[in-house]
Amino acid sequence: MQVVQSIADLRAARAHWPGLAFVPTMGNLHDGHLALVRQAKATGRPVAVSIFVNRLQFAPSEDFERYPRTLEDDLALLAAENVALVFTPTEAEIYPEPQTWRLQPPPALADILEGAFRPGFFIGVATVVLKLFNLVQPELAVFGKKDYQQLLLVTQMCRQLALPIEILPGETVRTEDGLALSSRNRFLSPAERAQAPELQRCLVQLAARLREGAGAIEPLERAGADRLTARGWQIDYVAIRRAADLQPFTTADLADGAPGVILAAARLGSTRLIDNLELPPELRRHASG
Ligand code: PAF
Repeated sequence: MQVVQSIADLRAARAHWPGLAFVPTMGNLHDGHLALVRQAKATGRPVAVSIFVNRLQFAPSEDFERYPRTLEDDLALLAAENVALVFTPTEAEIYPEPQTWRLQPPPALADILEGAFRPGFFIGVATVVLKLFNLVQPELAVFGKKDYQQLLLVTQMCRQLALPIEILPGETVRTEDGLALSSRNRFLSPAERAQAPELQRCLVQLAARLREGAGAIEPLERAGADRLTARGWQIDYVAIRRAADLQPFTTADLADGAPGVILAAARLGSTRLIDNLELPPELRRHASG
């Protein structure tokens, strides 16, 4: 495994690895990241991983400094996965001057859900992902479904800007009790950790209620939020959306069998967790049949 820090070394190394599959990360790797790496590897391509905590996607109120940095452990995990190339740039390498050029994704996708609660987040994500794509020049990249909106945004960016990069979605990895793996889980107290799987249970319950023909969508979203609030969560959103563009999902969409996804973001104490659940195809068949 080759580890490079500078753009010059990355460019030299890349020449030895044509057709790279790429997994961009902010480090603090867990099994969720490793599943993306394995998925990249299963394409038969050499795999490149980047580890870079991107200040641009943190709002001033969010703690960029607190983001866990565990480079040595991360490199050991990646070496065990036989990754070909790891890019671990410093901040000065990626942003040698103030990054005044930034990519503005369409507000209809970037200013809703996560973007509504984290202003500028997707500008920061799109800018660094485009920059990393330019540097690594992969033919394929894997993004997890856990960050569903990010996955959609990057896929659309590649399509609309004609980037020659195929985006593969990666399934969310969960603990046995259903909690989606996230670098933030480490901040949960034991009591919060015990409560955390409730987020996914709430989404599963909403999907079940849709399956039973629960009627209007908005009351259902409110019921989901109320259920979490009653258990001590502070809610940012519980939203049932169209999977293709994250616009509100209607009962007509349900009847048409349109793909949908339920997304939620909520806080336990000071830890903000996100999760989502794609509406199962049998629900679509049931609704349309
Ligand atoms: O999902 C992440 O870890 C980050 O948003 C990404 C894609 C590495 C960009 O910084």
